[in-house]
Amino acid sequence: MRKKASAWLALALGVGMALSGCSSNSSSSDDAKQGSQKAGEKLEIFSWWTGAGEEDGLKALIKLFQEKHPDIEVENAAVAGGAGTNAKAVLASRMQGDDPPSTFQVHGGAELNEGWVAAGKMEPLNDLYEQEGWMDKFPEALIDMVSKDGNIYSVPVNIHRGNVLWYNKKVFADNGLQPPKTFDEFFEVADQLKAKGVTPLALGDKEPWTATHLFETVLLGTLGTDNYQKLWNGELSFDAPQVKQAVETFKKMLGYINEDHSSRNWQDAAQLVAEGKAAMYVMGDWAKGYFVNDLKLKVNEDFGYVPTPNTDGKFMVITDTFGLPKGVKNPDDVKKFLALLGSVEGQDAFNPLKGSIPARIDADPSKYDEYGKQTMEDFKNAELAPSLAHGSAAAEGFVTKVNQAINIFVTQKDVNSLIDTLVSAAAELKK
Ligand code: GAL
Repeated sequence: MRKKASAWLALALGVGMALSGCSSNSSSSDDAKQGSQKAGEKLEIFSWWTGAGEEDGLKALIKLFQEKHPDIEVENAAVAGGAGTNAKAVLASRMQGDDPPSTFQVHGGAELNEGWVAAGKMEPLNDLYEQEGWMDKFPEALIDMVSKDGNIYSVPVNIHRGNVLWYNKKVFADNGLQPPKTFDEFFEVADQLKAKGVTPLALGDKEPWTATHLFETVLLGTLGTDNYQKLWNGELSFDAPQVKQAVETFKKMLGYINEDHSSRNWQDAAQLVAEGKAAMYVMGDWAKGYFVNDLKLKVNEDFGYVPTPNTDGKFMVITDTFGLPKGVKNPDDVKKFLALLGSVEGQDAFNPLKGSIPARIDADPSKYDEYGKQTMEDFKNAELAPSLAHGSAAAEGFVTKVNQAINIFVTQKDVNSLIDTLVSAAAELKK
C-alpha cells in the first residue's frame, strides 16, 4: 500500500522525497520566538466545522484539550459552510493581512503545499513529528501529503473517504433493489426508482462543491485511478475521450436528482435519503457522522453504503489537517494542541464522531463502528486517489474555477463548454 500510495502522490503532487532524513527544525530562533510567547494569548482554532454533522468531533477534541491544559484559553473560531465555502475566503483575507489564526483546518495536498506553504506562510513541524515519535505512526502517503521540499507542515487529524454511495435501506428493500456497483447498474436502479416516484439521487448544490464532489467520483470510476491521477500532473488532458465520457455520465446522472437541489446544502440533501424521499446520495463519509450523530440513524440498518459506481478498491482520499502559521504569538500552545490532535487519544476522540477514520495507523479500531472498521481496512488495501473538491489534487484557484463551471453545468448541461473550461483552467494551472 505504501508504495502504491507514494506513487500516486509523487504523480499527483510532485512530492516523492524521502522524509526519513529530515532533520529537526528546532532552532535557536524558534526557541527565542517561543520563549517570548505572551501569557494569556487565546488558542484560536479556525475551521468550517459548525452545526449539524460537522462540529461534534471538534468539540470532543477541544474538550479533551481543555481537560489537559486548563490554563490555555481556547476559541473555537469556526466559520459555517461545507468544504470551507466561506471559511477559506475569511482565512485568505486574514493570512494576507498577517492576522493568522493560531491554527487552521487545511486539506493535505495542493491546498496546503501549493497554497500556504508555497506562499511562505507556514512553519515546518519536523521537530514536533520527531518529538512525538510520529514518523512511523502516520501512513507515508499522508506524511507526503503534508510535506514540501523535505519539511512537514501540518498534522492530519483524519482520513475521510469521498467515493461513498449512501442508500436508504428500506427504499431499496421495498423495491427489491440491490445497491449499484457499476454505472449501468446505477442507471437501471435509478430508472426503477423513478418509475416508482422515488427521487433516485439526492443532490444539494446550494454550495456548488457538492456537485464537483459527485463529478470527481464519476471521473475516478470512468478513468480508473492511473488516468485520474494523470489529470493532475498534466499527463492526461481534460479533452481526452475518457473525460468526455465521464462528463456525459455525470450529465445523465443529473437527470435523476431532486428538483430543489440548488436550495439544499449537503445536510439537507442527506436528509432526503434519511427520510426515504430520495434513495441514494454520493457524499464523503462526514455524511455518516451526520446520519448517526444528528439524525440518530443506524449504520447498516437505516442506511447502507457502497463505493460509488466503478470505484470498488479505490479510495478518494480527503484529509483534514492543522498546522502552525508563521507569526502566531503562541506557538508553544499551538504545538500542544497539534500534539493532542496527532495523538491516538485525540484521534479516537475526534474521528468516531466525525465519520472519518483516524489518520494514525495505531488507533483503536474498537472505538469505531462497522463502517469505520471496514473503511480502515479498505484504506489499507485500496488504490488511493486525491480529491479535487477537497483540495488535495489541485490548487485552490483551479478548484474554484471547476466549482463555478460545474455549477453552470448542472443547469445548462453543456458538455463541450465544461470540457473547454476544464482545459483552459488546467492550462493556467501549469504556468
Ligand atoms: C470537507 C472536509 C470535511 C467536511 C466536509 C463538509 O472539505 O474535509 O471534514 O467538513 O468538507 O464540510
